[in-house]
Amino acid sequence: MKDILTAPFMVEMIRTLTNMYAHGWDERNGGNVSLMLDESDVKDYLDLNAAKRQIPTGFAAPELEGRYFLVTGTGKYFKNVQYAPAINLGVVRLRDQGRQAELLWGFEDGGSFTSEFPAHMMSHVARLKVNPENRVIMHCHPANLLAMTYVHDLNEKAFTRTLWQMCTECIVVFPDGVNVLPWMLCGTNEIGIATAEKMRTARLVVWAQHGIYGAGKDLDETFGLIETAEKGAEIYMKIAHLPRLNTITDEQMHLLEKRFNVTAREGYLD
Ligand code: 13P
Ligand code: ZN
Repeated sequence: MKDILTAPFMVEMIRTLTNMYAHGWDERNGGNVSLMLDESDVKDYLDLNAAKRQIPTGFAAPELEGRYFLVTGTGKYFKNVQYAPAINLGVVRLRDQGRQAELLWGFEDGGSFTSEFPAHMMSHVARLKVNPENRVIMHCHPANLLAMTYVHDLNEKAFTRTLWQMCTECIVVFPDGVNVLPWMLCGTNEIGIATAEKMRTARLVVWAQHGIYGAGKDLDETFGLIETAEKGAEIYMKIAHLPRLNTITDEQMHLLEKRFNVTAREGYLD
């Protein structure tokens, strides 16, 4: 068996979580990330017949039966992941129609996966239907996006258009826009179902007064997606209280669509 700490997916996960912490997106245990793995990714690093524990998930996700996930632990600090990955992270395989998770590696202090596991798994199911290459669900608490949910209309079209107007790259990086959920109790199946529903039409879902979810084909892409939305929100929070003299017009956004070969969410541009 090879050392799992040298596996490319593990190295990338630890680097990404460390970077998320460095960006201030993940205070204390804030945020959680799940990376779907193929059996071919893990087979050289783990004995796939030696589950250490069974952890009930509390929901069913038949589409994910037999799927492997590298996932952050509940209550764990992103700050500490690089120093103790086997305590702060785990690799699980879903069984029994997604009702049970077999722990194959990690959570060595007896811990468990994130309390947001329902939102992660249900979002994986939703995004895989749109894009079979989706592998990552990422949740974090970036300050400017969060701040924006206190002062901006939570209407999805209005919220998206404001972000698109804040920097030229925004419409190119997330042409499908940003969906928004009102404040809901986190860590529940209900918020998981609501998030997954929103994930059907966009790769970014804001949880008002809480944070954001992003989805993508790899950790880099998903990080970049949230990074770009957060940059847009940062500009907004810098200018929201000032007279607006200029903006990016819808006409200019149509030029960006053509130049970068993207299609803005239907009905969102004039
Ligand atoms: P966990 O520590 O359970 O991952 O929860 C953190 C969080 O951000 C809840 O939304
Ligand atoms: Zn959170």
